[in-house]
Amino acid sequence: MMNESITFTIDGVEVRAQPGQTILQAADAAGLYIPRLCAHEDLKPHGSCRICTVMVNGRPQAACTQPVAAGLVVENDTAELREHRKILIEMLFVEGNHYCMFCEKSGNCELQALGYRFGITAPRFPYLWPERNVDASHPDIFIDRNRCVLCGRCVRASRDVDGKCVFEFVGRGPNKRVAVNAEERLADTQLDIADKAADVCPVGAILKKRVGYAVPVGQRRYDHAPIGTDIEKTRMETQSDRGRG
Ligand code: FES
Repeated sequence: MMNESITFTIDGVEVRAQPGQTILQAADAAGLYIPRLCAHEDLKPHGSCRICTVMVNGRPQAACTQPVAAGLVVENDTAELREHRKILIEMLFVEGNHYCMFCEKSGNCELQALGYRFGITAPRFPYLWPERNVDASHPDIFIDRNRCVLCGRCVRASRDVDGKCVFEFVGRGPNKRVAVNAEERLADTQLDIADKAADVCPVGAILKKRVGYAVPVGQRRYDHAPIGTDIEKTRMETQSDRGRG
């Protein structure tokens, strides 16, 4: 038996949702884009990047972890939240070493695409230029920690989907990083090119070898439309169908 649907609002728009859904899932289904970075539709939410923060009945909550409830009043696209998200994105850019023009992920990178969506031209904070290492020991995959944003997608995918626990966080604060389940090298883990963990990195930190630039820069996912456009499109299509009906 289907659960009774419930309704709540996002930026004044009435949204119908199923109990158990998160605000982010309900917003996606309704064609309302809530920016996010650590969330991934095939993985359990982690709630770490806070880019999806929305105001729920006046209090800040992570939309990717907060379940829907009848009558919630959610604010998403406000000047205050846009500024909050911009600051988080800028901090991620200065906290790592991101050279978009040399990165194979350029045009497909969710961090870069968020930067474009929020109109970030240069971060307002000083660059930290941390020393991070690259591990190219694996025959099919490499990990470049300079670009890692600690979203934990690889950790969750390896643990929850691949059942391998190849990746894990170690360290705290500025020393936090993604470690591999081996003495030292990625090559000594069970990571396989077909693993979900090899596919979910939002930036260019985990990349497959020998497939670089298969799609030319300029023809990539976010080269044509801002991130979130695919979600917003479903709403526009529904509205135009209703207008015709
Ligand atoms: Fe919700 Fe990262 S997408 S906290």
